[in-house]
Amino acid sequence: MQQKLTSAFNDRFRQQPALIVRAPGRVNLIGEHTDYNDGFVFPMAIDRAAWIALRPRSDAKVIATSLDFGETKEFDLASLKAAFDAPKQDGWLEYLKGVAWALQDAGFQLKGWEGVVAGDVPIGAGLSSSAALEVVTARAFAAVSNLEWKPGPMALLGQRAENKWVGVNCGIMDQLISAAGVEGCALLIDCRSLETTPAPLPKGTVVVVLDTATRRGLVDSAYNERRAQCEAAARHFGVKALRDVSSAQLAARAPELDQTTLKRARHVVSENERTLAAAEAMKRGDAPAVGRLMNESHESLRYDFEVTNDGLNVMVECAQSARGCYGARMTGAGFGGCAVALVAEDHADAFVQQVSAAYAKAAKLAAHAYVCHAAAGARIVS
Ligand code: GLA
Repeated sequence: MQQKLTSAFNDRFRQQPALIVRAPGRVNLIGEHTDYNDGFVFPMAIDRAAWIALRPRSDAKVIATSLDFGETKEFDLASLKAAFDAPKQDGWLEYLKGVAWALQDAGFQLKGWEGVVAGDVPIGAGLSSSAALEVVTARAFAAVSNLEWKPGPMALLGQRAENKWVGVNCGIMDQLISAAGVEGCALLIDCRSLETTPAPLPKGTVVVVLDTATRRGLVDSAYNERRAQCEAAARHFGVKALRDVSSAQLAARAPELDQTTLKRARHVVSENERTLAAAEAMKRGDAPAVGRLMNESHESLRYDFEVTNDGLNVMVECAQSARGCYGARMTGAGFGGCAVALVAEDHADAFVQQVSAAYAKAAKLAAHAYVCHAAAGARIVS
């Protein structure tokens, strides 16, 4: 990627880039749909990322060429505030604009730049290509504008761009892991305090991402509906968020809730408990226990939270029954995209082949499976 960016930059500007920055996508091992309930998540940054090669400009313009979309677009930093209420029709550029808007709105003075943007996080696969683009943009602005890079606050501004500018009501997980990822580790994140605790994978295991080749459809409305249901459940319990409800409390008052609200709350409450248990198991290096918790997470997402689709269910079944698999589940928002499996390292290649073949047969779709290594969060590459 670095080479691809450098040579594209050279072609365009007849010069080496002044800076190259990179921010990774992520895969979430466990803790799904818990972030916006102030709960716990356990993602790792992956070795696929969004990249920008750039040079500063002396004016307030940002001019960017997307290698993935094959187009050059620009905006003026001075006109973002006024454009806040206008429709957002500039595709990938809106992520750059949104981040610039959020940084300015937080009081930062930004400088313009020009350059090339590219990424190898598959779009719409549930591996956070948008968060990677937001965070790499923040990293770029921080570098050219001489802002101190603080992963937590920058992740919050990336999330603000997504919530307020792009209009997707996501939680903090994706931006935070992209900003704060630690090489070789997954991060247990407390989404209330934003405290992150790195944890290496159990010895002799690898994480395999399994792309179902199905893509989420109307995910935003279904996502927002789940959020609203969780918030309604929290209100019923008189707490700030479902993070504050235990399994015992939920069971005791279950009859007060309608069936759907109960199912949604049961997922979130149990998923928080599973995520903390997985962090403990990870500390002990107990791969079978982490795997079991991942399997239980999928069941809960399938039957209680109802955010899986056939592709995800079939893929997870194929993975769980393959040799060397400790556990598997859907990852990300759901409704399509990717599953994730924890696999014995010495079985990884055979696992990838076996699951791809089984999925092709069962789902009549070509899976894309790959072993992922835990990468570092956003950084200046050169
Ligand atoms: C999407 C959102 C995250 C999180 C997950 C579900 O990836 O962007 O904030 O809510 O879905 O866990």
